Amino acid sequence: MQEEGSLFLIEEERIKKRVLELALEIEKDYKGKKPLFIGILKGAFIFLADLVRFIDMDLEIDFLAVSSYGKFTESTGEVEILKDIQIPIKDRHVIIVEDIVDTGLTLKYIKDLLLSRGPKSLKICALLDKKERRKVDIDADYVGFTVPDRFLVGYGLDMAEKYRNLPYIKELRD
Ligand code: IMP
Ligand code: MG
Repeated sequence: MQEEGSLFLIEEERIKKRVLELALEIEKDYKGKKPLFIGILKGAFIFLADLVRFIDMDLEIDFLAVSSYGKFTESTGEVEILKDIQIPIKDRHVIIVEDIVDTGLTLKYIKDLLLSRGPKSLKICALLDKKERRKVDIDADYVGFTVPDRFLVGYGLDMAEKYRNLPYIKELRD
């Protein structure tokens, strides 16, 4: 029998501190460039909202809604666009904002799709990175926290649409 390890948790204050650090880094990197932030719905809505409020520069925001098949805990790489972005990205500096990179399949699909539309630059900002789960070769340029292979909820992340409103991130166990 295995002894239970402790539940993984990222407290509200720690998230806030890290999001501020990411914001300052992005602000420095994009000085004078008016980047376009594309939040991936629904998971990234809280992260994006907090991130941009720490950035003191001209920027624009749009949203892309996708659903990965395999709705529960595993994605398959088949991605359906539920809502496309509205702002044209040709020749724009684009930053994709995602809640978590797991296998990387969703992000790979989104990245290739957006690259085909000719942005001037394209970077990825992910709050969480489950590195050990990666199935395709893709990495975020800005990462909040590298996390273990546990199922996490809160701060935008859900399990069957529940828990998105938690101000902290916690591991879900049954
Ligand atoms: P990927 O295509 O496997 O990288 O899956 C990425 C998507 O799966 C994320 O945008 C999340 O919506 C979801 N996901 C992956 N891991 C978790 C988790 O631990 N909690 C909640 N959602 C997750
Ligand atoms: Mg998501």
